[in-house]
Amino acid sequence: MKKVVFLTGAGMSVESGLTTFRDAGGLWENYPVMQVASHDGWESNPDYVNAFYNMLRTKYKDVKPCEGHRLVASMDNDYDVTVVTQNVDNLHEVAGSKHVIHLHGELMKMCSSRDVDNPRFWVNLPHDGWGEDGLEVPVGEKAEDGSLLRPYIVFFQENVPNIYDAIEEAQKADIFIIIGTSLNVYPAASLLQYVPRSTEVYLIDPHPALGNGSHNVHIIDKGASEGMKELLRIMHNS
Ligand code: OAD
Repeated sequence: MKKVVFLTGAGMSVESGLTTFRDAGGLWENYPVMQVASHDGWESNPDYVNAFYNMLRTKYKDVKPCEGHRLVASMDNDYDVTVVTQNVDNLHEVAGSKHVIHLHGELMKMCSSRDVDNPRFWVNLPHDGWGEDGLEVPVGEKAEDGSLLRPYIVFFQENVPNIYDAIEEAQKADIFIIIGTSLNVYPAASLLQYVPRSTEVYLIDPHPALGNGSHNVHIIDKGASEGMKELLRIMHNS
């Protein structure tokens, strides 16, 4: 079975109704990124950061996968697929993708602020008894190790532990497909460097950020759903 690796970003979820980060009207235009998504921001005002992610969870609550997510998931039938995503939503999983690596954390998890990656201290949301359908973490709530519970989000200035698994997958890819990312944030943006030069590379994005570098990138300048349809047509005909 051929190995297919996806790298997805915020554009993947636009047709589900979510905003991107860097386009006009994007999340970082309305919220100061270094306050809500950096390690220093968390250290200086954890209550503000928790309130931001409580708000985001409520906003994401009724969001459903789009056709693009479903088409990505459908490839599990014919290929050995790994989805590497920068997104903190769970729309790939809800659409049915079996193997998803989250590089930047997961909105529906809380963790210890002392031991972020230790699954022993993770808390899955929704949580019984918490506000707005269990998605709002109360102020001052503690993890089981006694530290403040924090969103399981990889903040700027922090390591990206899952990049090592993502690199291993990228190195094995027969087909590498990038969808909806401006490729501004590292190390995610460097993943293509690990993809063998013989691998077929596709980029689906209405404003593609990548020209032809080391790889011969097949650019599909469409949204995620239309782009996935076109990609599947190309793959079936080749
Ligand atoms: P960006 O907001 O930087 O880029 C979004 C990309 O989606 C752009 O290239 C758009 O052209 C594209 N796009 C817009 N509409 C689309 C559609 N319908 N279909 C497909 N693509 C579309 O988002 P990311 O590259 O994902 O990190 O940002 C990377 C990281 O920066 C995020 O994971 C987040 C942020 O800071 C953290 O929160 C840790």
